[in-house]
Amino acid sequence: MALGRGSELYPNAVRYWGEPAGMAAEREARADWWRGAVLYQVYPLSFCDSNGDGQGDLPGLTSRLDHIASLGVDGIWVSPFFPSPMKDFGYDVSDYCGVDPRFGTLADFDQMIRRAHELRLKVIIDQVWSHSSDAHPWFRDSRTSAGAEKSDWYIWADPKPDGTPPNNWLSVFGGSAWSWEPRRRQYYLHHFLPSQPQLNLRNEAAVEALFEAGAFWLDRGVDGFRLDAIDFSFHDPDLRDNPARPRPDRPARPFGLQRHVHDMMQPEMPAFLERIRAFIDRWPGRALLGEVSSEGDALHRCGIYTDAGGTRLHTAYTLGLMRRDFTPDAFREAIAEAEREPDGWVTWAFSNHDVVRSVTRWGANAEHGEMARLLMALLLSLKGSICVYQGEELGLPEAELALEDLRDPYGIAFWPEFRGRDGARTPMPWRAGAPHAGFTTAERPWLPVPAAHHAFALDRQEADARAPLHAWRQFLRWRKAHPALVSGSIRMLPAPQGVLAFERRLGEERILCAFNFAPHPVRMRLEESSCRPLAGHGFAAELAGGDIGLPGHGAFFGALEAVAPQKIQRQLEPAQ
Ligand code: BGC
Repeated sequence: MALGRGSELYPNAVRYWGEPAGMAAEREARADWWRGAVLYQVYPLSFCDSNGDGQGDLPGLTSRLDHIASLGVDGIWVSPFFPSPMKDFGYDVSDYCGVDPRFGTLADFDQMIRRAHELRLKVIIDQVWSHSSDAHPWFRDSRTSAGAEKSDWYIWADPKPDGTPPNNWLSVFGGSAWSWEPRRRQYYLHHFLPSQPQLNLRNEAAVEALFEAGAFWLDRGVDGFRLDAIDFSFHDPDLRDNPARPRPDRPARPFGLQRHVHDMMQPEMPAFLERIRAFIDRWPGRALLGEVSSEGDALHRCGIYTDAGGTRLHTAYTLGLMRRDFTPDAFREAIAEAEREPDGWVTWAFSNHDVVRSVTRWGANAEHGEMARLLMALLLSLKGSICVYQGEELGLPEAELALEDLRDPYGIAFWPEFRGRDGARTPMPWRAGAPHAGFTTAERPWLPVPAAHHAFALDRQEADARAPLHAWRQFLRWRKAHPALVSGSIRMLPAPQGVLAFERRLGEERILCAFNFAPHPVRMRLEESSCRPLAGHGFAAELAGGDIGLPGHGAFFGALEAVAPQKIQRQLEPAQ
């Protein structure tokens, strides 16, 4: 039975966009559509289950595309749906050119992309090129012997004379990054699970085979790729030990106790990205979004990987920001780090399938609705492209799960100090009060829908004008009407304690954006009166007598006249 009722709910999703059809078509046709685009990340296993097996699938996604289009985003990024043993829930691919039966068929994929394009949504899919599954035929061959055809497609190394692994490298998910293969009497490298062997991207034939897989999807009409874990593409060929990174706070995950100078982030990365770019440029108008690890200077690396006159990635994001504290200073530093390559183009994300949901992580002590709205406005005002994670538009908090509910091996290994990623991966709540909030008709979904998530269900929010859902729609519509927010430059402005303020500028349009991270009201003084408050974004901050009054967790947006930037000064005054 098809559960998705999106099309019934939104017979004409385009009407929510608030953008004249001609303008939308023009934007969509631009080769740089990705610049400032907002992508909605779908984690298909948890999005919508159409066949009652407890797992989301492609027909389920298709049935809910209208909901996504109704937000006013520009496209979707779909996490892996390829054949996979699901040891890492799809990031362990055993066939790069297929659809895992639990997600449907290639015909279902074609149908999904057709409907997305009808709704003017671009479609980006994951490509996991750093590693495959150990069930991939390439690895099955490679592991048989040093003389096998694909012997060199993965990273093999002899043991040390005492039988231990070749060096001290650690897997992100715990333990050594090396596992033993008795037939080769050698170790193979894996940066994640032992079932995710690292591909040898210095092997021409392996790279060509990955490009062939990429071509398969580009020919099917995808608009680009999200490239998984690119910092792990290469390692030191001499396999030198990583140096220690002593930390007084000894982290729960030992990966943090090394400086990852030899196992990842090697100097040949830019050249490799240039090669991938030259490959994808054979299909005009497609885009590459790289995932950059959170190792030091991650946002600067995003800049380097994207700032080369259009010869590397189009854009890149990192978990780095999501691991920082929620303070104006942390954001100022992050923006400055990204701006060290001013022509680079970062993608910002506050939530995704790998981290605790932002409203819980950053807003644990705040009023939930206020925090959800503040995060939304801040995210959508930053210079760059944007990824929104499914459920973020509902202000969904992190799910509290018991150990016996967990599926993520990463969380199971480090419980209870680190609970893994399942709390951000629970199914979407579509209908309050329905079994499993309308996600599935199965008795048991693959991860439970927490009782607390019913209150955030889509149908309930549709009926509540104050719900985060409407704030997202309104703000996205408003953002589109202000090109400076979509693709303008950014310049930090001085601001009182607890406030982050910057200017976005494109041509003559200059927009002052101010965000109050504190729960109490703050006043911000404008020295001159060249700022005109903008309306239509949904925030109630005001400008009176040269002062901006920002409510707790409030935001202000004002149009600045074209005046010398140094004229704009602010100073803190205690709240009245
Ligand atoms: C993905 C993770 C995955 C890892 C290994 C990533 O960065 O986002 O979900 O576990 O790569 O493939």
